[in-house]
Amino acid sequence: MQRVGRIIRDSYYRYYLEQNAAREKDRPFCRHDFQHMLDVARISYILLVEGNLIPGFIGRNRLDSHQAAKEVVYAAGLLHDIARWQQYDTGEDHAAAGARLAGPILERAGFLPREIEVITRAIAAHRRGEPWGGMLGRLLCRADDLARPCALCAAREKCYKADRMETLRETLIY
Ligand SMILES: [Fe+2]
Ligand SMILES: [Fe+2]
Repeated sequence: MQRVGRIIRDSYYRYYLEQNAAREKDRPFCRHDFQHMLDVARISYILLVEGNLIPGFIGRNRLDSHQAAKEVVYAAGLLHDIARWQQYDTGEDHAAAGARLAGPILERAGFLPREIEVITRAIAAHRRGEPWGGMLGRLLCRADDLARPCALCAAREKCYKADRMETLRETLIY
């Protein structure tokens, strides 16, 4: 997971997380911090493994190995909300902005152009999991909801998403 370590140490990555934290310090609802990104990365990987989807994911995206697939999934999870702060500032969709900000970080971390394409497309599609975001986009979208501990959330009465959250209806824990 060497390349994932490089993302976490990247100074731009850290800067974007600081920007999210500054905009969300008084937010009563879910935040978009490192813990959330890590939760989404881990849950996406669990879904791939439990669904026996790794061989198909490797084949479809021409990845080199199981390890490369794991790094691609973790990179997508760890980067998917890095542009939330831009949405607060300009109103631009954070998924589209995040795909743009993720590119240079992924290059510096040593990901191959075809891997960067898979990751950035998935990030761009993570809000709704549209088909053009590929399997990884759908995984991120589902993991994003499963990552939220709605059953214990103090703000759930006021949350517009609460009534459609699987984690609340079925108390799913990942
Ligand atoms: Fe998001
Ligand atoms: Fe998210």
